[in-house]
Amino acid sequence: QLRQVLAGKKVTVTAGATVERIDPVRFITNDSSGKMGIAIAKAARDMGASVRLIAGTVQVPLPEGIETVRVQSAQDMYEAVLGEWNHTDIMIQTAAVADYRPRTVYETKMKKKDEGFTLELEKTVDILESLGQRKQGQFLVGFAAETNDVAEHAMGKLKRKNCDLLVANDVTAVGAGFGTDTNLVQIYDAQGLVADLPLMSKDEVAIQLLSVVAKRLNGVSTS
Ligand code: PMT
Repeated sequence: QLRQVLAGKKVTVTAGATVERIDPVRFITNDSSGKMGIAIAKAARDMGASVRLIAGTVQVPLPEGIETVRVQSAQDMYEAVLGEWNHTDIMIQTAAVADYRPRTVYETKMKKKDEGFTLELEKTVDILESLGQRKQGQFLVGFAAETNDVAEHAMGKLKRKNCDLLVANDVTAVGAGFGTDTNLVQIYDAQGLVADLPLMSKDEVAIQLLSVVAKRLNGVSTS
């Protein structure tokens, strides 16, 4: 039985992968299964929060009893997130959002070319960074999927995107990152490392993370 440390709080969680279409039969996506985000949504619910889940493509069943908005592209996710932003207390972005999308989306299936071809990409909106610029009392948590220099990149993202906390996972570590039932994470704030958690289930990571968030919101030091 989890303590109701988030009672009365509105929590919005993004989960899964975005899909950027090339043509009606092809797209660009990534390996996010949605497990990390769904674990956080469930844990937040079990801690008494009112939870909204914004889900791209996921490989596991969506939780029952949690209001869920389904989205495809980074732009769709951005619009869904903005729709929740003004009535969110805690925003947690676990989704793996495409950084680029095809500049042109073809309405009919592209024909095979003999010589190969170049697909031109343009940047998508950085949802987390945009929220960081709009913060008005919301508590903002980002995730970072890293393959090298994890601490340095995590701190860079935390500051650039104006997050209150950033959860870094080295997605090259065994049992960590995309698709697994476990994760190996470090939690950072603007001062540096807050928690260096051992390998544990994503359900347990969710509880640990939300406990840190609850302590921060209730004004209790975690150190
Ligand atoms: O879904 P699972 O299979 O359980 O895997 C979990 C996970 C590996 C996806 C998760 O733990 C994780 O690391 N999520 C972040 C993935 C990611 O896109 O990392 P990033 O370093 O590229 O982005 C940093 C942050 O900015 C993320 O909070 C991301 O949601 C956000 N972002 C990124 C790009 C963009 N255009 N808009 C964003 O908001």
